[in-house]
Amino acid sequence: MNTITVIGSINLDTTLRVNQMPKPGETLHAKEHFTAGGGKGANQAVAAKRSGADTYFIGAVGNDGAGMMMNDLLSHEEINTDGVSTLDNQSTGQAFITVDDAGENSIMIFSGANNSFTPEQVKASTGTISKSDFVISQFESAMDSTVEAFNIARNEKVKTILNPAPALNDIPTDLLSVTDMIIPNETETEILTGIKVTDEKSLKEAADYLHNLGIEAVIITIGSKGAFYDVNGKTGIVPAFKVKAVDTTAAGDTFIGALSTVLKPDFSNIEEAITYGNKASSLTVQRFGAQPSIPYKNELV
Ligand code: RIB
Ligand code: NA
Repeated sequence: MNTITVIGSINLDTTLRVNQMPKPGETLHAKEHFTAGGGKGANQAVAAKRSGADTYFIGAVGNDGAGMMMNDLLSHEEINTDGVSTLDNQSTGQAFITVDDAGENSIMIFSGANNSFTPEQVKASTGTISKSDFVISQFESAMDSTVEAFNIARNEKVKTILNPAPALNDIPTDLLSVTDMIIPNETETEILTGIKVTDEKSLKEAADYLHNLGIEAVIITIGSKGAFYDVNGKTGIVPAFKVKAVDTTAAGDTFIGALSTVLKPDFSNIEEAITYGNKASSLTVQRFGAQPSIPYKNELV
C-alpha cells in the first residue's frame, strides 16, 4: 500500500436532508439535520487511510471548537496531522450541504482557515512529501500552498494528483506544469477544456487537451457511468458499480483517496486502481454524510 500526502481543505459539514431542493425565495422544512467531518482534502485523506494507505494531511483549521473537533477526527483515523496548523483569528472551514431524495446535493462552503495557510507551512512538511508515493490536492485551499507542495513533490520525484474541484476556470499554469495526473469530473472537464464530454470521442478530445498542457495521466469521472482514463497511451472506461445513491457527498473524494492507495506510481495498474476507487465510492453514495460514509479496506475486497 502507498504512502499518501493530501494537502487541502478540512470543513465542518452541516447537512440538511430535504425532499427536494428549495427554489429561490422558498422556505422548506428539512427532515433531518446532522454534522460531520468534511472538506475535500480531509475526505480524500480519510478515504486513503481507510483503504489502507499510510496517510499524512497538510492543512489548517481555526482556533475554535470546530477546529479541535476536525483535528480530533483525523487523529482518531490515525492520519498524521503534524502538517495541520491551527490559525489564530481564523475560523475553521464550514460546508452547508442540502441533500434531496434523489441523493443529489448542493453545497456552499466558507473557506476560513483553509485559504490562509502559507507556502512556508508547506515547506515544513518537505520530509513528509519526499517519502510519499503521491501528493494529492484540490481547489478548496490556498492555491500558492498547493503550488508549493507540488513543486516540492516534483523536485523529490514524487507524483502529484490534482482534483480540480470545485471547478475553477483560471488554473495557474505553474500548477498544471507540475501535475502528473488530473482527475476532473464532467463539469470540471468542460470548464478546463471548453469541451463538453458526452461520449468516448469527446472524452478522448478533452484528455488530449489536458495532455497538451503537459499532464501525463488523465482520469475523467463520469458519475454513475464510472471513469474514463487516458494513461500511458491506453484509453478506456471502467464502469461504475450499479447501486442506489442516497447521498453522493464525498463520492469523488472517496474515489480519489482509494484509487491513489493502490495505484502504482508508474500508473501501470490504472484499471485495477480505478475499479478499487469505483468500489469505494459505490459504498460512499449509499450512506449519508461525508467522512461517516467513507468505507474501510475490509469492505473493498
Ligand atoms: O466533496 C465533498 C465535500 O465538499 C464536503 O465534505 C464539503 O465539506 C465540501 O468541501
Ligand atoms: Na455519502
